[in-house]
Amino acid sequence: MTESDMADSLILNPVFNRDGEATELPRFEMPQEMMLPGTAYQLVHDQAMLDGNARLNLATFVSTYMDDEALKLYMQTVDKNMIDKDEYPATAAIEDRCWRILGNLWHNPDVDHAIGTSTIGSSEACMLGGLALKRRWQAARKAAGKSTENPNLVMSTAVQVCWEKFANYFEVEPRWVPVTEDHLFLDGHELEKYVDENTIGVVAIMGQTYTGAYEPVKEISAKLDRIQADTGLDVRIHVDGASGAMVAPFCQPDLEWDFRVDRVASVSTSGHKYGLVYPGVGWIVWRDADALPESMIFHASYLGGDMPTLSLNFSRPGAQVLLQYYQFLRLGRDGYRAVQQGSLDVAQYLAEAIEQMGPFELISRGDTIPVFAWRLKAGANPNWNLYDLQDRLRMKGWQVPAYPLADDLADLTVQRIVVRAGLSHDLASRLLMDLRAEVDFLERLDAPMPREGSESHFHH
Ligand SMILES: Cc1ncc(COP(=O)(O)O)c(C=O)c1O
Repeated sequence: MTESDMADSLILNPVFNRDGEATELPRFEMPQEMMLPGTAYQLVHDQAMLDGNARLNLATFVSTYMDDEALKLYMQTVDKNMIDKDEYPATAAIEDRCWRILGNLWHNPDVDHAIGTSTIGSSEACMLGGLALKRRWQAARKAAGKSTENPNLVMSTAVQVCWEKFANYFEVEPRWVPVTEDHLFLDGHELEKYVDENTIGVVAIMGQTYTGAYEPVKEISAKLDRIQADTGLDVRIHVDGASGAMVAPFCQPDLEWDFRVDRVASVSTSGHKYGLVYPGVGWIVWRDADALPESMIFHASYLGGDMPTLSLNFSRPGAQVLLQYYQFLRLGRDGYRAVQQGSLDVAQYLAEAIEQMGPFELISRGDTIPVFAWRLKAGANPNWNLYDLQDRLRMKGWQVPAYPLADDLADLTVQRIVVRAGLSHDLASRLLMDLRAEVDFLERLDAPMPREGSESHFHH
């Protein structure tokens, strides 16, 4: 066979009879030879098929649906690197517009003098928020001739893991305020026991990951006012609004949790959660230059101007920022309200139906962000637990995670549903049918369900 005959026969071979498909591939070594793009595509595509169906994944907060026009835009802009502001000044200008739009949405009193940026997600945004608090504290301590050793950050034990990372990576002591049956989230209760002269700030979560609960930023702030009156300590708040900062402005507009509360120094959110963009994009906005020390900003000159940048990453996709702007334009305030309210309605419909099934008690009802969780009632059938229900639902394609609550409440297992755009009322009623059938099955068990450590399935 000539070389060109060989090439022809490669292309002519039906895809699953080609090398790579019909032969064994090394798993952890790069193959020596090339393969046709069509074969490589099929191989990767088929492996990814084994993942769960993203739309039926009720564990994730991250967007799994966007309009076809957004997809088109995504494909056309997938090659843009956010950090290349020289090369992509129009994308940089849109980034600037987006965070100012958010600052405005979050009632920043003077968006012209605020500072903000896009990030890869809420985690990076929270790291930057925490770092700014730390720098600001250090500067004040230095100015007063005091030690800058042993900074601490006060937060609830129910924060998302990104705050543990922040404390660990940036060497700040996490001051954990425990969650208890009476105080399921940070509410200012006994805050004076945790705040001292080394406190760089307090984190308030808008939309607790475990339950969806909003931590009452205004009450926390009022408590910090009292602490300041008693001790002189002036402690600022970072609001981790990963989910809630894109829900509350539309669905609970009267709730004051943002820059309307004077102590709020910065607010972060995930564009890829209720910002309704595919992963990964996040946002952070600081109140003003005082909240973000100049020492954290890198100045790059671009197009004759000065482009301040601050980020932990260098290169990252620019397309998501354009997609965020697409959503702002496409939906506007009315559209965001409609989408989020639609998700809240589905969450509340599901929560009520689950409450009425009998064995469950709701921990939250989907009236903050469209997220709710439930537990088994005391005295429930001992032959099954929520991990079993999770596994039974998984067999029908639904991913509905069961997991232990944070630290002090770790004995308490809950199950959670995150409703996102795309979980229609119709799909939700189908979920309820499956849920009822599986609960019936489990309730009829007269011996314990065999199981092997399904706890490991949980991920935020
Ligand atoms: C409250 C909270 N903060 C931060 C994060 C981390 O967000 P990201 O996945 O965008 O980094 C999450 C993710 O679930 C969250 O719920």
